[in-house]
Amino acid sequence: MIASLAECRYDARNHCTFGGPVSSTAASSTPLKAAVIGIGWAGQQHVKAYQAMPGVELVAIAEPNATLLDQVQKEYGVPKGYSDFRDLLKIEKPDLVSVGTPNFAHAEPAIASLDSGAHVLVEKPLARTYLEGRSMVDAAIRNDRVLQVTFNQRYRQDVQTVKRFVDEGRMGEIYHAKSRWLRRDGIPGRGRKWFVSKELAGGGPLIDLGVHMLDMALYIMGEPEVEAVSGAAYNRLGQRFVTEIYGEEAVYEVEDFASSFIRLAGGRTLQLEASWATYRENGDLINMTIFGENAGAELTSKNYQTQGAVRFYVDAAGVPSEIVPEIPSGANSKPGHLIVAEQFVERVRSGAYDQFRGQEGLLRTWIIDAIYRSAAEGREIKLSELKE
Ligand SMILES: NC(=O)c1ccc[n+]([C@@H]2O[C@H](COP(=O)([O-])OP(=O)(O)OC[C@H]3O[C@@H](n4cnc5c(N)ncnc54)[C@H](O)[C@@H]3O)[C@@H](O)[C@H]2O)c1
Repeated sequence: MIASLAECRYDARNHCTFGGPVSSTAASSTPLKAAVIGIGWAGQQHVKAYQAMPGVELVAIAEPNATLLDQVQKEYGVPKGYSDFRDLLKIEKPDLVSVGTPNFAHAEPAIASLDSGAHVLVEKPLARTYLEGRSMVDAAIRNDRVLQVTFNQRYRQDVQTVKRFVDEGRMGEIYHAKSRWLRRDGIPGRGRKWFVSKELAGGGPLIDLGVHMLDMALYIMGEPEVEAVSGAAYNRLGQRFVTEIYGEEAVYEVEDFASSFIRLAGGRTLQLEASWATYRENGDLINMTIFGENAGAELTSKNYQTQGAVRFYVDAAGVPSEIVPEIPSGANSKPGHLIVAEQFVERVRSGAYDQFRGQEGLLRTWIIDAIYRSAAEGREIKLSELKE
């Protein structure tokens, strides 16, 4: 029999305690009902993650594309499929919902799921704008539920190696970082034309790839306070590339390259860049440069390779020295989506969600919204300007 959070005992703050002091192992004997809304590439990663997790039962998926719904339901053996997520929520009453819809369709199913009593794991970016994201966080607070954004790239083995080096205190204070994801020719294809619509996606490579690089940088730097941003967004090559992918009718409305400068508290700074189309080496480049008072770090991953991707620069034996950590090959690592989903479930089971109402995702959306506004207005923007 599938038990649900309805069986929880709630404490004075309406936190589920599963009848006693909460421990993830004690609680894991109670299966949680999970559902996934939107099952394109990203949604299928959530399907696989829930199916791989003990104590979680994937009960249903929702997807308006009937062919895809049927195909995914059969391929993964998902018990129920719905064309409308509202029916899924009403009938299945899931405890956990993953939202893997396009950016324009994150807020509605996420808020409806939170209002139905489910905890929500939403794909990145949280939302297209600060205000849209704020409405999602408000729904999580109103319903006392977890809202988490899928920042899977931070669990790459190379990023985790840098994070451990920083957390060991080896770098001293980090005063500047540069974080970028660049592609020569990487506008999303395979029928996902919504990615190039400003209205549907909220932006181009900055909101798509840049949000991961922003997340990695803030995570590694220990979540510094962000004060102001200055940005530039270019649309020079996009139309040429998008015509090749989607034909003459396609209109490329978002940036193809964005560059920005972010002021952090205490005079620290961060540069962020992202491109889907630029004249540079072919493939995907994920690159971070981090300057600390006692050491530096450089992460350079071409086409997602993690082996040999990290260098640390230190003083050793009185001379400038380089450390090249041995990072296991990506093939042996746990998928980032599974790590994120496990963390999400652990947070749900912990019963203490105050820190997990989507605040982390909202800050990243807020910064990106401010960068787009800075690019449009040609001036530095303080984050506080976006609150109203
Ligand atoms: N974390 C990552 O690594 C990663 C990678 C790719 C995409 N993403 C994110 O995942 C999201 C989806 O991207 P994708 O590449 O899978 O896109 P996609 O277009 O392939 O898939 C989205 C699916 O959602 C469905 N959909 C649309 N509206 C819906 C609704 N109201 N209810 C249910 N389903 C609906 C579409 O029919 C489609 O099948 C985006 O927000 C994207 O930024 C994250």
